[in-house]
Amino acid sequence: MAQLFPLPLIIIIPFLLSLTSSLQFKEAPKFYNSPNCLNNDQTIHISMTLDATYLRGSMAAILSILHHSTCPDNLRFHFISVTSATTTRHLNHTIATSFPYLTYYMYSLNDGNVAGLISTSIRSSLDCPLNYARNYLAALLPERVKRVVYLDNDVVLVDDIGKLAATDLGEDAVLAAPEYCNANFRTYFTPSFWANPGLSNTFHGRKACYFNTGVMVIDLERWRNGDFTTKLTEWMELQKRMRIYELGSLPPFLLVFAGKIASVDHRWNQHGLGGDNFRGLCRDLHPGPVSLLHWSGKGKPWARLDAGHPCPLDSLWAPYDLLQTPFLFDH
Ligand SMILES: *[C@@H]1O[C@H](CO)[C@@H](O)[C@H](O)[C@H]1NC(C)=O
Repeated sequence: MAQLFPLPLIIIIPFLLSLTSSLQFKEAPKFYNSPNCLNNDQTIHISMTLDATYLRGSMAAILSILHHSTCPDNLRFHFISVTSATTTRHLNHTIATSFPYLTYYMYSLNDGNVAGLISTSIRSSLDCPLNYARNYLAALLPERVKRVVYLDNDVVLVDDIGKLAATDLGEDAVLAAPEYCNANFRTYFTPSFWANPGLSNTFHGRKACYFNTGVMVIDLERWRNGDFTTKLTEWMELQKRMRIYELGSLPPFLLVFAGKIASVDHRWNQHGLGGDNFRGLCRDLHPGPVSLLHWSGKGKPWARLDAGHPCPLDSLWAPYDLLQTPFLFDH
């Protein structure tokens, strides 16, 4: 009997250590191109941000993308972080360990040319710098990457990302996203913006509709040629001098791109599943088919599942959770 005593300590101590350091994730299986993969040479580039807070969401998103892709071998992930070298090494280690077969690249928003692009007035006020990573993809990703699918880390795909990546951008659209023309577009800008014709005329002659920047297909070549990072930055600089919108990374995108984007079927961004921003009420799906679920809003499925108060649709996120649950917390 005495021999049994040390055993629980041997089991428990490593778990306690792992809890104090960081979350542990399971290893994802290897995914192979299916016979339905029509073009084994066609590379699909995907970009997401990576940070410690939303890491669990990113891991689930990656797994869901691989799982539903007909050509998982063709996927190239471009991860952007904004953290210290130590944290970046840790994030990289987590990805490399859980997705040993994944082809991916890591970028830092603090690096070289991008740091130069972010003007000091903006940098000092960034509520969350990673929110603005999508503004700098054209500078961060190498020139050879001509098109990228940008995704938030609170999404899960239940369809082939190749279909989204193949969106027709037409003659001159720089980006594609689902549009929502019934949303009240005026609410995204302040009354002083609308009262100033010099500003509000920017939407003159455009059929400007709301779109969500959490799911976008971007033509990086057109973006680079048109220097759209500078165009976004100019609006952000103006916002510093006079308040033309509430804070956030969305309004500059609307100012520059609304009414000029290529449309994507709504099935590719079933957004708002995080619930309302005040009380975190559960939201239902919008009518119609679903290819991508997006938990935008205050609540996140992993937090609600952990708290034991999930929303009904959070059960659709759970199968992609790679977190290794210590048995101590099993319930
Ligand atoms: C990430 O980790 C992999 C595997 O350990 C390593 O080969 C690679 O150089 C690392 N990349 C970065 C940017 O640290």
